[in-house]
Amino acid sequence: MKILVTGGAGFIGSHTVIELLGAGYEPVILDNFSNSNRSVLAGLRQILGHDVPFYEADCNDPEALNAIFEKENFGGAIHFAAHKAVGESVAKPLMYYRNNLDSTLLLLETMQQHGVPNLVFSSSCTVYGQPEHLPVTEDTPRLPAQSPYGNTKAICEDIIRDAVYAKAPIKSIALRYFNPIGAHPSGLIGELPLGVPGNLVPFITQTAAGLREKLTVFGNDYNTPDGTCVRDFIHVVDLAKAHVQALRLLDSREETSYYDIFNVGTGHGNTVLEVIKTFEEVNQLKLNYSIGPRRPGDVEKIYAQVDKVNNVMGWRAEKTLAESLQDAWRWEQNLQKQKTSVSE
Ligand code: WQD
Repeated sequence: MKILVTGGAGFIGSHTVIELLGAGYEPVILDNFSNSNRSVLAGLRQILGHDVPFYEADCNDPEALNAIFEKENFGGAIHFAAHKAVGESVAKPLMYYRNNLDSTLLLLETMQQHGVPNLVFSSSCTVYGQPEHLPVTEDTPRLPAQSPYGNTKAICEDIIRDAVYAKAPIKSIALRYFNPIGAHPSGLIGELPLGVPGNLVPFITQTAAGLREKLTVFGNDYNTPDGTCVRDFIHVVDLAKAHVQALRLLDSREETSYYDIFNVGTGHGNTVLEVIKTFEEVNQLKLNYSIGPRRPGDVEKIYAQVDKVNNVMGWRAEKTLAESLQDAWRWEQNLQKQKTSVSE
């Protein structure tokens, strides 16, 4: 079955392409490289031994999307393509709303026109804000979003839900990701942040590689075991596998309209300092870091309750934090080697 993967050259999208192929699906990538790199396609080719069907297009372009749907006979879609930088979304809210909402609306409309039933949507734990009770379940109330980016995820969830409740012939699952980290164990694909990374693990690996002088830990006066923030860090390969399980679940549902939400995390929280220490231990190096002030907008602690995704989808995270941080470091080292060999 052919599956459209919007944003398939991105971090989570590219890892999902591999898992889809392993599960017998036929992924077709759509990407405009606005926040990804063509080299990802070469990495996929090396891992897989063949090319993956690919369209360079913007999923906000109705003609392009329609032409792709005309040509391919999709059985479903996974919608990763979106702007995703929290800070940038505060500075450019209209760009975020226009891009993230329009692409979701257009994808839903095009799927309806072409009778494509199944959609997996990339959502985020950011919709929970700082929850009162931990771990967060799917029934934990969503809080007003802290950023336009977070708001686009909440609004897109609602758009999909409303379409389904209006009996659109669509079956959809929103996956609320916790903190995706790591890279493919081959070291051939991974995260490619543009500019200075905002996220913890790419900042750690770039510091270890000497690209950044020092990592700043944003605050150590939180109400957590060591004072630093707690997150649920999930290996990107585990997360990719959750998309395959979501598609399988959608396929198995006999009704024509269906919508559900699943948390995708490990179910455990780790502090920022635990991540740093684990990184140092498993990769046998010392990281230059110091404690700085809190970062505005950070929640103190969040981690997932994963009973629903375990029980209903039969999915659970398998990889450890140590594996994630080893894989992230292998990827960073390969990336630096590639850059050196290009510049030689
Ligand atoms: C993790 C922790 C920082 C950088 C993001 C998105 C969110 C969701 C998950 C997708 C925090 C600390 C970070 C640094 C640090 N994703 N940190 N020094 O903010 O939990 O969430 O990913 O939708 O929407 O915002 O991730 O990696 O930025 O931060 O101390 O240089 O690491 O303060 O406690 P975050 P993060």
